[in-house]
Amino acid sequence: MNDLNALRTPEGTALLDEVRGTDPAHELAVATRLRREHPAELVSAALGQARLRQRAAAKFGTEDAGRMFFTPNGVEQSTRASVAAYRARRMRELGVTSVADLCCGIGGDAIALARAGIRVLAVDRDPLTAAVARANAEELGLADLVEVREADVTEVDTAGYDAVFVDPARRGGPSRGAARSASVRGGGRATGGRIFDPEAYSPPLSWAVEAAGKARHAALKVAPGIPHEAVPDTAEAEWISDGGDVKEAVLWFGTEPGLVRATLLPGPRTLTGRGLADPAVRPVGRFLYEPDGAVIRAHLVAEVAEEVGGGLLDATIAYVTADELRPTPYASAYEITDHLPFNVKKLKALLREREVGVLTVKKRGSAVEPEELRRKVLPKPHGPGSATVFLTRVAGAPAMLLGRPA
Ligand SMILES: C[S@@+](CC[C@H](N)C(=O)[O-])C[C@H]1O[C@@H](n2cnc3c(N)ncnc32)[C@H](O)[C@@H]1O
Repeated sequence: MNDLNALRTPEGTALLDEVRGTDPAHELAVATRLRREHPAELVSAALGQARLRQRAAAKFGTEDAGRMFFTPNGVEQSTRASVAAYRARRMRELGVTSVADLCCGIGGDAIALARAGIRVLAVDRDPLTAAVARANAEELGLADLVEVREADVTEVDTAGYDAVFVDPARRGGPSRGAARSASVRGGGRATGGRIFDPEAYSPPLSWAVEAAGKARHAALKVAPGIPHEAVPDTAEAEWISDGGDVKEAVLWFGTEPGLVRATLLPGPRTLTGRGLADPAVRPVGRFLYEPDGAVIRAHLVAEVAEEVGGGLLDATIAYVTADELRPTPYASAYEITDHLPFNVKKLKALLREREVGVLTVKKRGSAVEPEELRRKVLPKPHGPGSATVFLTRVAGAPAMLLGRPA
C-alpha cells in the first residue's frame, strides 16, 4: 500500500515515466543509476510497476495500462478490456444504470462499466487490491462514477443497484486475496492452477447465484469450462471468445432463462441456440469447418452445421464438413484436398510431392503431439507451399485431412 501511495506522488510519477518500457535486460543498470537520486524502495516499486504495466498492455492496451496500477494477481485475474466493454454494453442495453461489482479486483470490469455510463459500487476485500481499483478509477477520470469499497462481498447490501456483477476469484493458492497480492511490484506471478469447481470459487458460485436472484439483472463471470449441467435453470449462458480464444462464460439473470449463446469478439457476432439435435454424421465433403471455441463450448455446433448445410465427420468431434463454401463468422472454413487414413509415411510423401514447407497441424480426437508429427513429416522444411493437416477421426477411424484455408 505504501508503494502505491509513493508511486502516486510527483516523485513516483516522474520515476514511473522514466522507467516506462525498460527492457528487463537493462533493469539492473537502470536501478543502479536511479538509486543515486531516489530511495531504493521507490525505484524497485517503479520498476516492478513498469513490468506489470507491460504485462497488462495485452489486456488494457498500452495507453490505459500505462496510466493504471496493478498487482501481479490483479493483472492475471482482470477481465480484458474488449470483453468487459462488450458486457458493459449489454448491461446498458438492458437498461441498467447502476451496478454492484462484487469482487472488483483492480477494476477491469468497473472501468468498462463506468465508461458505458454506468454508476458502479466496486467491492473487494483485499485492501491493496481495493486501493489499486480506486487509484485506477481516479487515473482514468472515472472517480465520479466508481465508488470503491473494501469489504467482504457477502456483507454488502446491493438493494440500491439495478444489477449485480460477480467475478469470483478462481485461482488456487491461499484463499485470502491479501496473502497473494501484498505487493504492487510485480515480482511474483499468480501461483496455483485454475479451480474448476465453481463451489471452490471465492465466493462460491451458489452464493453468487443467490445474490443474482436478489437483483433485477445480474451477470456472473465463470470459467468457460463450466459444465452445462452447472448452469442454473434461471440463467442464460453466454460463452465469449476474442480473436478466436475463448475467454469466459457469463451467466446472465433477468434476460432469457435457458438461452445459450456464443459471442465472438471483436464483432460482436452472437449465435443463439435453437435447441437443434446433434447434426448427422456424413462423408467428408469438399470443405471442413472448424467452429470457434465459444461455439463449441456453448454446444452450438448443430447451429453452425445447419448454417453451412453440413454434417459431422464423427459423432463425437466438433468438425463440420460440407460440399459448399458458405462463409460464416462462427467457423473457419478449409478446402480439403486429401483424405488419408492416419499414416505418417503417407503424409510425409504427400507433403514432399506438394512441395509443402509450412504445415499447420490441427487436431480433435487424436492423441498425436502436433510438434512431434511436424518433426517427423517435415524434418527439413523447405518448399514454397503451405498446408493444414487435421488429425481427427472420420466415422470412428483415425484420419488425416489435408487442406488449406478456403
Ligand atoms: C477475478 S478477481 C476480479 C477481477 C475483476 N473483475 C477485474 O476485471 O479486474 C476476483 C477478486 O475477488 C476478490 N474476492 C474474493 N472473495 C471475496 C469476497 N468474499 N469479498 C470481496 N472480495 C473477494 C479477490 O480479492 C479478487 O480481487
